[in-house]
Amino acid sequence: MGHSGFDAAGSNALRVAFEQTKPVASTLFQAIPERQSTRGEYDGQPLSRHELELLEKAGTGKGVQVIVLTERKAMETVLEYVVQGNTVQMNDPAFVYELKHWIRFSGGEAVRTGDGLYAASSGNLPAPTWLGSLLFNLFFTQKSENDKYAKHVRSSAGIAIFASENPTPAQWVEVGRCYERFALQSTALGIRNAMLNQPVEVSMLRPQFADFLGIGKRRPDLVVRFGRGPKLPSSLRRPIQAVLV
Ligand SMILES: Cc1cc2nc3c(=O)[nH]c(=O)nc-3n(C[C@H](O)[C@H](O)[C@H](O)COP(=O)(O)O)c2cc1C
Repeated sequence: MGHSGFDAAGSNALRVAFEQTKPVASTLFQAIPERQSTRGEYDGQPLSRHELELLEKAGTGKGVQVIVLTERKAMETVLEYVVQGNTVQMNDPAFVYELKHWIRFSGGEAVRTGDGLYAASSGNLPAPTWLGSLLFNLFFTQKSENDKYAKHVRSSAGIAIFASENPTPAQWVEVGRCYERFALQSTALGIRNAMLNQPVEVSMLRPQFADFLGIGKRRPDLVVRFGRGPKLPSSLRRPIQAVLV
């Protein structure tokens, strides 16, 4: 691929220019098949300064800044926002209905649909769909979810927040690219990551969260925890023919 960008005229068209080029097997490229959102507990160990610098560099882009928090006090404050956001979402029946609709309780269901969130990829035991569905209704409670997030944050080496200068589609794409580089760089270093976006998904919390981060008018877009720990089963993908139009 040559280069891509949003139309200079300010429309929301994305232009991609292809050109002949030599393949480059960069470190980030090689990490693509290994990368995953790892929704399990990590080992609680800090990363080295050098590793943190590499992550920060990978996650920084045009108008996009990555704030890396490694101090326990700051991480606990992020956890408070995650818990507040999770509580709002879990009190919203439409949110819970949609979430449940995307969970693939059994391996068979995950393979058949080739999409959604496979229970085992979130560190839960897979179960037949009827049983998984029943267990979800019984055990998916505010307290169990909030306790899970506490363990997730407290076992992480740090939390990265991606913030952008302008709320435009071009910046959304740039934030996504910065996160992708960050995720691939971390994978290349054997570091796992997973998103905790409740503080930016619940609109009431987002400006408060920005205040806590001290980023002025910039907007927090993604919240990502990272650290070392075991890999979990990978999420599946639909076949390429099913997603091409
Ligand atoms: C914009 C965006 C927001 C996301 N937010 C969350 C989140 O809040 N919690 C979470 O567990 N995963 C979140 N994800 C991760 C996706 O669920 C994940 O990428 C998907 O399940 C595919 O799995 P993989 O990353 O392991 O390939 C988000 C992904 C994107 C692109």
